Amino acid sequence: MMEQPIALIGFMGVGKTTVGSLLSEKLSRPFIDVDKEIERHHGMKIRDMFATYGESMFREEEKKFITHYAKQEGTILSLGGGAFLQEDIKTICMEECLVLFLDISWENWRERLDELMEDRPVLRNKTVEEIRELFEERKSLYQAHHKKFMTDGWSEEEVADHIIESLQLK
Ligand code: S3P
Repeated sequence: MMEQPIALIGFMGVGKTTVGSLLSEKLSRPFIDVDKEIERHHGMKIRDMFATYGESMFREEEKKFITHYAKQEGTILSLGGGAFLQEDIKTICMEECLVLFLDISWENWRERLDELMEDRPVLRNKTVEEIRELFEERKSLYQAHHKKFMTDGWSEEEVADHIIESLQLK
């Protein structure tokens, strides 16, 4: 049976990586965390890539990797929160994958901010107000999806189980 790849999208720190790896375990399907693949390939952290080569270099790599993995049968993909800034990525994912948007309210997300700051260059040097603006702006990107899952009040395990159940993946 052909299994369509699944792409998880949503704002930084919503839990795409954890939910993706749980889905992969529960469904025995391969898991690709795009950011981790890029880091592995370049032997360098994304925050250092931003600092050394600039964001545009990272975005090019992001496009290359996603274009490749979005066509791999059965794969569960976790995308960086800014991936859908690129129309090409959005188009490829919407055509090739089942795109699942993991949503979270600002109030819940705000509690995670401190732990996310260090590894997220996009959040650095911004005030909480500016981060909130980014959070709101990004919502429009995630309107391109096939199904949305609100994660407020749910553990990552519960989100993964809910996805499996509601999409009848098992
Ligand atoms: C980014 C999100 C990050 C990572 C990079 C840029 C963004 O991924 O791709 O730091 O622009 O939102 P996560 O969403 O996995 O944190």
